[in-house]
Amino acid sequence: MALIELRDVTRMYGPASAEGVTALNGVSLMIEAGEQVSLVGSSGSGKSTLLNLIGGIDLPTSGTIMVEGRDIGTIGDKGMTMLRRELIGIVFQFFNLMPTLSVLENVTLPAELAGKSESESRARAMELLRGVGMEGRASHKPSELSGGEMQRTAIARALVNRPKILLADEPTGNLDSHNGTLVLDLLRRIAADEGLTLVMATHDPAIAAQAGRTVEMRDGRVVSDRRR
Ligand SMILES: Nc1ncnc2c1ncn2[C@@H]1O[C@H](COP(=O)(O)OP(=O)(O)OP(=O)(O)O)[C@@H](O)[C@H]1O
Ligand SMILES: [Mg+2]
Repeated sequence: MALIELRDVTRMYGPASAEGVTALNGVSLMIEAGEQVSLVGSSGSGKSTLLNLIGGIDLPTSGTIMVEGRDIGTIGDKGMTMLRRELIGIVFQFFNLMPTLSVLENVTLPAELAGKSESESRARAMELLRGVGMEGRASHKPSELSGGEMQRTAIARALVNRPKILLADEPTGNLDSHNGTLVLDLLRRIAADEGLTLVMATHDPAIAAQAGRTVEMRDGRVVSDRRR
């Protein structure tokens, strides 16, 4: 059984007519545990839509999405919340940190929402902040950080509940090339160390080429799927 399986998934936005948009058009894809997958394709090809569907942020118009054998179309809101908290971590292009919380509080928040004790949450958060080189910034607010530091914090936050799947949507899109390289190396190393399945959308062919597998999208379809 694949960890992630999409069968004939379509996502339409707006009216089912000429004005409607077919963001995904009959996508079937299997991703095995531990794979590192780059998702490439021009703007509007459906990369974010695909990640949002896998992450349960959005639901398909038709087709089936299975995550660890569970059909996300039928597990309901509670099942979805559990899945998002425990199985999946997401790193967004724009970091999405809570501005009023410190770095440490941002990272511990998902663990607290999942009902972990404060001491356990803090210990895991500090371990991750050390891993991303942010332990010296734990009490800072996001507004006091550089872009690369914000993204490293967001990576730590995505990992605090020990997910099996890490989804990243253009995680270096708002970073300069130096910070982008740091963040990518970090993501790959953590994914490898923790045996995570990494699915990452990127515009950058050089970045995509470093992954074990590259899935290319065009007009809502998968047009190529290459493993190295
Ligand atoms: N909420 C929405 N309502 C209507 N159309 C949408 C919505 N979200 C996405 N779309 C459309 O779906 C298509 C796929 O969008 P998506 O965001 O998945 O592309 P993408 O490959 O991530 O692009 P980019 O590289 O620019 O981030 C686009 O044509 C987009 O305009
Ligand atoms: Mg996108």
